[in-house]
Amino acid sequence: MKAIVLQDLGGPASLRLVDRPDPAPGPGQVLVRLRAASLNYRDTLITKGGYGSRQKMAGLIPLSDGAGEVAAVGPGVRNFKPGDRVTTSFFQSWIAGEPDEAKLDDDLGRAHDGVLCELRVFKETGLVHTPASLTDIEAAATPCAALTAWTAIVTLGHIGLGDVVLTLGTGGVSLFAIQFARLCGAEVIATSSSDEKLARVREMGAAHLINYLDDPEWGKTALALTGGRGVDNVIEVGGAGTLKQSIRAVRPGGTISLVGVLSGARTDLLIPLIGSRNIRLQGVAVGAAGGLVAMLRAMDFHRIKPVIDRVFPMAEARAAYEHILSGRHFGKVCIEI
Ligand SMILES: NC(=O)c1ccc[n+]([C@@H]2O[C@H](COP(=O)([O-])OP(=O)(O)OC[C@H]3O[C@@H](n4cnc5c(N)ncnc54)[C@H](OP(=O)(O)O)[C@@H]3O)[C@@H](O)[C@H]2O)c1
Repeated sequence: MKAIVLQDLGGPASLRLVDRPDPAPGPGQVLVRLRAASLNYRDTLITKGGYGSRQKMAGLIPLSDGAGEVAAVGPGVRNFKPGDRVTTSFFQSWIAGEPDEAKLDDDLGRAHDGVLCELRVFKETGLVHTPASLTDIEAAATPCAALTAWTAIVTLGHIGLGDVVLTLGTGGVSLFAIQFARLCGAEVIATSSSDEKLARVREMGAAHLINYLDDPEWGKTALALTGGRGVDNVIEVGGAGTLKQSIRAVRPGGTISLVGVLSGARTDLLIPLIGSRNIRLQGVAVGAAGGLVAMLRAMDFHRIKPVIDRVFPMAEARAAYEHILSGRHFGKVCIEI
């Protein structure tokens, strides 16, 4: 079978198309013929060794998010049969409930091989059924970014009718967050560095738009847009460069969903601003397979489609990474396998 591997840690230029032996499923395992994969921001970090000793250094098959068809099952597999359409779960052994270190260490495309290959064996717990309304490309767009947004908005965020959600930028997580916040009946304030992208999020239902380059005090502006009450949940993908504005925007008792660090990982904070206002800093680590099942069911029922920016063929995987790094994308960057 063909696979893309990371030969060393020299960035996307280190990706190589290679031949690997076809795997066979053992007890409790499922062999999947992968048809599609998608990229997340973390995948670009992994090509440069961004996870240090916590990632496989060379020979890694990258990417966590995939979809395809069951080719064969090993002894004892109950939930899948050949021909079933399946989507990968980001954490292979986190089925439901609270995480623990072992579950959080069992993700795809970092310490363990990922999905950028034609055939891969998965634990039965590491797959969910793909709903009929999603193509393989659309399903492959969901395991990391969509589930992270779902966890922040629904599972941990409990967002409901009339709540206000603030999204930062228009990356994969943020666009799904806009879709799920609207699904829950919330009002969305969206930011972006691009007026053109803001026009597109307005079409997706964002009520208020802020260009964060033109308005560096966007947190204050978001607060004013709520009439001074503050937003209920900030989907914080920016990190060091955005957290202070997010604290300005959130209401007393509101939640800042700590998702990403696009603008840096370390910052100093005036802690009383958080404690004295009952603000909840809620870390979000993607989510469990049970959340993925619930989210895909909701997407199927409400006919919610991921925003797909571009689909690259497997042989052009490097160009897909470079496209993400260019920041020109709007929506998910996918690979057809
Ligand atoms: N904790 C988790 O479970 C989890 C899961 C998924 C992702 N993440 C993290 O979340 C972050 C986003 O991931 P992603 O896959 O959605 O990334 P992505 O698709 O690559 O997002 C890129 C977009 O983010 C926006 N952006 C960049 N810098 C920004 C800034 N300083 N302020 C506001 N927006 C900014 C830009 O939007 P505009 O072009 O519109 O300005 C850019 O196009 C990453 O740090 C990633 O590692 C965490």
